[in-house]
Amino acid sequence: METLLAPIFDFLGCETPDEWLQEAVKKDNLPVVLLDHLVCELKAAQSAMYLIRKYAVDKESGDALLAWLKPFEDFTYRKVGDWRELANHQKLNKSMLPRSGTPYGQDLIDKMVLLIKEELHHFYQVLEIMDMFGIAYESIGSSRYARGMLREVRTYEPEALIDKLICGAFIEARSCERFAKLAPHVDKRLGDFYISLLRSEARHYQDYLTLAGDIAGEDISQRVQYFCRVEENLILSPDDDFKFHSGIPCN
Ligand SMILES: [Fe+2]
Ligand SMILES: [Fe+2]
Repeated sequence: METLLAPIFDFLGCETPDEWLQEAVKKDNLPVVLLDHLVCELKAAQSAMYLIRKYAVDKESGDALLAWLKPFEDFTYRKVGDWRELANHQKLNKSMLPRSGTPYGQDLIDKMVLLIKEELHHFYQVLEIMDMFGIAYESIGSSRYARGMLREVRTYEPEALIDKLICGAFIEARSCERFAKLAPHVDKRLGDFYISLLRSEARHYQDYLTLAGDIAGEDISQRVQYFCRVEENLILSPDDDFKFHSGIPCN
């Protein structure tokens, strides 16, 4: 586990502050931690889907992606369907075709389709954990975190894509770091689940970063440093909306 986490600690500008950890392990906060985690898994799948639809695949493949995620979105945003049914929707039944003229298309598709599959599986696993702890699904607003980073994305291509991929790397890396931080302090069943997530989230972080570098075709370390400071600031500044990726609790 240490070899898995070392590059993540290296990549992130700061560790999660103790104040956040103390808040997150409070019994009363378990529902918000799990509900927000649940929605983050869907958002991770959605942003990967957005990237392949916008940058890599033909229309028909794009439609198949939309249909793949639809039952998860219906459940989350419209409370439609029984969560157990979602176990049957975790696989994509169609192969994705890259649009002609996108040199990085296939690589983006391969990495992101696998990522979506894993995030949808995590989504289902969080629902299983919620069921185990008797926590019912209810909608929850999003935190300032991802928004705060995506605000800094440049508005022209391919820089916009590169920035979005770097943001993806930070979100994955921070999630991984927080799972590792939480694991020893929560109910063993939940802690074991967090540990089981580390490997794929660590790979997601690496995939985003590799894609960003490959697509840029040049050194991106300055841009990575820029987002590192933005992310660090979101983690270390006061935040009155306690969530999975929130800053220092101040209420
Ligand atoms: Fe995940
Ligand atoms: Fe992930």
